Amino acid sequence: MRRNLRTFPDAEFKPASLVAPLELEKAFNRTAPLEFDLGCGDGSFLTALAAAHPERDFLGVEKMPGRVRTACRRIGDRQLSNARVLQLEISHAVHLLPRRSIDAFYLLFPDPWPKRRHHSRRIVTADFLRAIARALKPDGLVRIKTDQMDYFVAIQKSLREAPQLSANLEDEEPDLPKTTFEKRFLASGASIYWLELRKAGPNR
Ligand SMILES: C[S@@+](CC[C@H](N)C(=O)[O-])C[C@H]1O[C@@H](n2cnc3c(N)ncnc32)[C@H](O)[C@@H]1O
Repeated sequence: MRRNLRTFPDAEFKPASLVAPLELEKAFNRTAPLEFDLGCGDGSFLTALAAAHPERDFLGVEKMPGRVRTACRRIGDRQLSNARVLQLEISHAVHLLPRRSIDAFYLLFPDPWPKRRHHSRRIVTADFLRAIARALKPDGLVRIKTDQMDYFVAIQKSLREAPQLSANLEDEEPDLPKTTFEKRFLASGASIYWLELRKAGPNR
């Protein structure tokens, strides 16, 4: 049976302006720690985390309308007032974020663009890392996962140009819900590479 969004119309965050800094408090009608899922796909990770942490807010950004609809439907199904989806390009969204507004970013299985001639389409660049560092609160986190080793190595190289972010050298992978793509990759036996970054401290 096809359901529509009338059950939970607020699931999609539609900012008044796409050139001014995002008014994030309007998305949730409260001020709480805010985490941002970049390329949230069908919203399964976003909604699992939001359901587990009602004390925090979770915003997903996704460019594909069908996936935005699916993510909104999941939010509606669980009546989550602390999860919202923004339909926008990731790079546009991160540049609209107010400085020091985000507690954590998730970049989980970004499109890999494996062919060398397509590498310039990859989302992680030094400019992107600097934009998310600017938007992070001091001590804020960035959690990245990919199944592509060469992308993982390229991300680590880009980090040299974003000195505000440093890798947490923990042995333990953070305990997070598995994303839809992660489940697929794990089922096919692929290796998963992960990295946790922290923004240096209160003066940045
Ligand atoms: C490989 S999927 C991973 C989805 C989800 N994070 C997961 O792990 O299941 C990448 C997602 O990022 C979205 N995406 C890729 N590039 C994007 C961009 N520039 N702006 C917004 N969304 C983007 C894609 O539409 C897709 O839903």
